[in-house]
Amino acid sequence: MVKICCIGAGYVGGPTMAVIALKCPDIEVVVVDISKPRIEAWNSDTLPIYEPGLDDVVKQCRGRNLFFSTDVEKHVAEADIIFVSVNTPTKTRGLGAGKAADLTYWESAARMIADVSKSDKIVVEKSTVPVKTAEAIEKILTHNSKGINYQILSNPEFLAEGTAIEDLFKPDRVLIGGRETPEGRKAVQALKDVYAHWVPEDRILTTNLWSAELSKLAANAFLAQRISSVNAISALCEATGANVSEVAYAVGKDTRIGPKFLNASVGFGDQDQRLPEEPVREPRGVVHVQHCCRQEDRCPRLRLQEGHR
Ligand SMILES: NC(=O)c1ccc[n+]([C@@H]2O[C@H](COP(=O)([O-])OP(=O)(O)OC[C@H]3O[C@@H](n4cnc5c(N)ncnc54)[C@H](O)[C@@H]3O)[C@@H](O)[C@H]2O)c1
Repeated sequence: MVKICCIGAGYVGGPTMAVIALKCPDIEVVVVDISKPRIEAWNSDTLPIYEPGLDDVVKQCRGRNLFFSTDVEKHVAEADIIFVSVNTPTKTRGLGAGKAADLTYWESAARMIADVSKSDKIVVEKSTVPVKTAEAIEKILTHNSKGINYQILSNPEFLAEGTAIEDLFKPDRVLIGGRETPEGRKAVQALKDVYAHWVPEDRILTTNLWSAELSKLAANAFLAQRISSVNAISALCEATGANVSEVAYAVGKDTRIGPKFLNASVGFGDQDQRLPEEPVREPRGVVHVQHCCRQEDRCPRLRLQEGHR
């Protein structure tokens, strides 16, 4: 039986693993976290997060092939595939403060994986991270690898809070990036086989590592641009007497543009709508996009309108 361990029982780790467990009864899934209250909540009738449909999914597979535990090291050591879904908040101090992602939790998870592993592992980046993070993680894992083979994959999560279960059941796409070596391809295939239990093959995209890491940041940047654009239009609406809902509806009817993510609002969406901003690890194009829609610029003279909160 393939064993999956997910480090981080948060908004992404919990629902994602619950859906994998539901759709793959032949796989054992253990979600681990250093937070005891969080794990207790996952094991109770009051889950730590609310998502429509989540209760049902957890009830169906918890205790069968889905488990929640604080015994992080044991389950990491036993796993074939380790998802790392820890928080990567925006740095509050040091280089890149207020902008770059803080990878402290990720790095400490990687060090722990290196310490406790005794067999080959596929390590999957689920957290949203700057491009080339996989390279840094690879260095930590292989520094003292004791002959263990680690394959790092990037498998960013695109779910949105509020529709997480629906998004996981029917994803627009699942993206898996890996090394372009025979071992890398084998690892990509192993993860593809997991998703293939319920995701149609043409929706599982495989790329190299950096394309997968960058695609998540690029998607965030595109989504942020749409909100920034409609917020800018809302200022024009105020000045001209136009109604931003009517304008957004009319614009979104164009099939080249589409209707989603065109509501004027106070922010980009959920906490994951952070933009790529770590200059050292970032290609220029993305930095430029990011500067066009900084958080500070996101709602010029925004006035919330009925139905657009
Ligand atoms: N929330 C979203 O909608 C969303 C969507 C897509 C991607 N993401 C990304 O996914 C990642 C996780 O986000 P989240 O919302 O699930 O975060 P979260 O804060 O809800 O959960 C992260 C969990 O990781 C645990 N953790 C941290 N370090 C650990 C360690 N060393 N060992 C064990 N557990 C540890 C924390 O205790 C916490 O429970 C972030 O990078 C985020 O940007 C989030």
